[in-house]
Amino acid sequence: MRMDIDINNIIIKKMKKITNICCIGAGYVGGPTMAVIAQKCPEIEVNVVDINQQRINEWNNIDLDNLPIYEPGLKEVIAESRNRNLFFSTNVAKGIGEAEMIFISVNTPTKTYGKGKGMAADLKYIELCARQIAMVAKTDKIVVEKSTLPVRTAETIREILKNTGNGVNFQILSNPEFLAEGTAIADLYNADRVLIGGEQTSEGKIAMDALTEIYAHWLPRERILQTNVWSSELSKLTANAFLAQRISSINSLSALCEKTEANIEEVARAIGSDSRIGSKFLKSSVGFGGSCFQKDILNLVYICRNLGLNEVADYWEQVIIMNNYQKKRFADKIIATLFNTVSGKKIAFLGWAFKKDTNDTRETAAMYVADYLMDDLANIMVYDPKVKPEQMFADLNYLNTRNPEQNKAQLNTSTDPYDTSKDAHAIVILTEWDEFINYDWHKIFDSMMKPAFIFDGRNIMDREKLELIGFKYFGIGK
Ligand code: UDX
Ligand code: ADP
Repeated sequence: MRMDIDINNIIIKKMKKITNICCIGAGYVGGPTMAVIAQKCPEIEVNVVDINQQRINEWNNIDLDNLPIYEPGLKEVIAESRNRNLFFSTNVAKGIGEAEMIFISVNTPTKTYGKGKGMAADLKYIELCARQIAMVAKTDKIVVEKSTLPVRTAETIREILKNTGNGVNFQILSNPEFLAEGTAIADLYNADRVLIGGEQTSEGKIAMDALTEIYAHWLPRERILQTNVWSSELSKLTANAFLAQRISSINSLSALCEKTEANIEEVARAIGSDSRIGSKFLKSSVGFGGSCFQKDILNLVYICRNLGLNEVADYWEQVIIMNNYQKKRFADKIIATLFNTVSGKKIAFLGWAFKKDTNDTRETAAMYVADYLMDDLANIMVYDPKVKPEQMFADLNYLNTRNPEQNKAQLNTSTDPYDTSKDAHAIVILTEWDEFINYDWHKIFDSMMKPAFIFDGRNIMDREKLELIGFKYFGIGK
């Protein structure tokens, strides 16, 4: 008993109160997360640093409608704390030097070269960060991995930091992000849980408690879960794998529904009403996108294969195979319905982002559908309320199916949905933006080629209403 009290006393004495945070990486994760931490913890100075000067300039933009990422509610949070205790800068070394706690929120894309190409996470940005921290740090630091990472990355970071030889102590924590884009601020304010993985030693516990104190500014403590590092890292990958698996499961059934009289929305409602299953993430669509699902599953598959768990790897890989099938199946349906060719036909795309309420396009189904239709020589015109045309071309060029000039020749963009639809043979809805529902669909119909087709890749439109106007409507799974 006495022993317990002594240990607690030591921990209380050593309780670290953080006053200065640095976040490396001002992207979709680092930006909103740090903005909320700064807002909720006004006594902590938060420096967000990035090597991308343009991105930092955009975060410092006086016009809050031109922040580098679009996220509902973000500009209000930034307005409150920017230049009070939230700062954006390219001075990475200064940020690291002054901080007691450093978040690593840099990108970890799938490797495009060498060993693990197309499967493993590319950890070069993480490694560079760790090396820079090692080089700059003069005082003890808590390093928090926030990027989605393969299991045992903390070990890599620890290895690099341990060998600095300058006497600085580092504690590495895993604190995976569970926010979804488009609802990031609400997800941060009201997280179901926060995971903090750390070393199972008294120093590890002190570091985990320091991070716990930050989240406890606005979240009930019972939602802040402390685990070992590996559990925390693996939980992030597998949470995303489970969510993506639900979408692929419902999408697989949408193919079956299209061949029968069943309707996927009725089936999803029936399945989701079972409280053991639940109704979320059962919305059939043209396929999931985003920076996490595919990358995390590929990572899981890669890890399993490396560990000789081939059956486990095959099981999860099928979630990706089904998602690719869904995108291709949708494009094939468009071509088949337009009398087996879209060559030279104008196809109007409504939406390009991977989901509504974000300007992020990573792995968006739209670019794959565009690519398939362009293979069949379609002329595409795209309207998206938040995605910039440069980004659409960057996405197509990334696919590397044809050269940039050819992409420019076959794809145009517009800032007006009515102009986009004019003279089109078909409208294809790729993102579920709310504004699409309330367009003047009579006006759109009148301006199109006939028969006027609409392919609703998100099942957001009122089929009966559109058919009454004269459209030939095709949804997913019905
Ligand atoms: C996801 C996880 O939800 C989040 O917890 C994690 O931290 C990061 O990855 P995100 O990718 O931002 O978030 O968006 P999410 O809402 O999960 O949507 C991912 C994709 O699945 C989108 O393309 C979306 O349109 C699609 N989707 C989602 C469906 O097709 N059907 C659904 O029922 C739900
Ligand atoms: P995420 O969705 O994970 O936040 P993003 O690509 O939106 O990913 O953001 C990651 C950010 O990390 C980018 O702005 C990139 O410039 C930045 N970054 C990558 N490597 C480094 C580094 N070594 N130092 C500082 N910033 C970095």
